[in-house]
Amino acid sequence: MSEKTFGKGARVLILGATSGIARATALEFARRGFDLVLAGRDLEEMEILAADARVRCGNGVEIVEFDATNFDSHPEFWHRCGEVDGVICALGVMPPQQESERDWETCRAVIQVNYTACVSVLNLVANDFEARKVGFIAVLTSVAGERARKSNYIYGSAKSGLSAYTEGLRARLFVAGVSVTTVKPGPVDTAMTWGMEKLPLLVPPEKVASDIYRGVRRKADVVFSPAPWRLIMAIMRVVPSFIWKRLDF
Ligand SMILES: NC(=O)c1ccc[n+]([C@@H]2O[C@H](COP(=O)([O-])OP(=O)(O)OC[C@H]3O[C@@H](n4cnc5c(N)ncnc54)[C@H](OP(=O)(O)O)[C@@H]3O)[C@@H](O)[C@H]2O)c1
Repeated sequence: MSEKTFGKGARVLILGATSGIARATALEFARRGFDLVLAGRDLEEMEILAADARVRCGNGVEIVEFDATNFDSHPEFWHRCGEVDGVICALGVMPPQQESERDWETCRAVIQVNYTACVSVLNLVANDFEARKVGFIAVLTSVAGERARKSNYIYGSAKSGLSAYTEGLRARLFVAGVSVTTVKPGPVDTAMTWGMEKLPLLVPPEKVASDIYRGVRRKADVVFSPAPWRLIMAIMRVVPSFIWKRLDF
């Protein structure tokens, strides 16, 4: 990635721009000179975010409507974004696990937003970046995808699938010089975790935003945010199944 592409004047597309982590990440990239393309379904909220970024950083900020689960609209959406140099995917929903267990519509939304929609749109991004031999992609998965817990395994399984997708995509795009960074946060203080109690190592979205920026900058393959989650999940992964299934979390 050339200096020209990474920084001033480069355009970064933020999918799920109204998310707490995406808002902080958009500002982090804007402060570093990037122009922003904000994509989401809440146009009013994105107008507010765009105005804020323009005032704070003086960058170009555009808004493109994006409905993650309207898969047929994705090619047209990608076309409307114009030429972009980087993509950050922050799409996600995490309703209480019990709702997904009982209600298929809820369960399907978890799978579709956290996995299928990301694959649908990132396939388009990948084909374009591969042909142009340029660009970076950062995808928000989660530590929840590292090992499935009984209290959150439907969301976790979608994130696990997305992590596997990004690993394969990274290998495919490596020869084209396109970086793919898998971002695995622990609990972050956003709307997604609002009202949840006793979340371990809870961090503000600005911490994840700066980890994303630094990870993309150094073309990291996998970023845990905050960093101690890498060790914690390495330990979690080797807990034997006969113990894991008895743990109450
Ligand atoms: N917060 C955490 O503790 C945490 C931990 C690990 C990983 N993550 C992951 O990090 C990413 C960002 O998380 P967050 O906490 O910032 O999330 P958030 O504030 O809840 O935002 C989720 C984003 O997804 C968008 N979205 C959901 N369904 C959509 C649809 N059908 N079409 C278009 N957009 C849709 C939302 O748009 P609307 O505003 O229109 O609803 C919003 O922009 C997610 O992938 C999440 O799974 C979060």
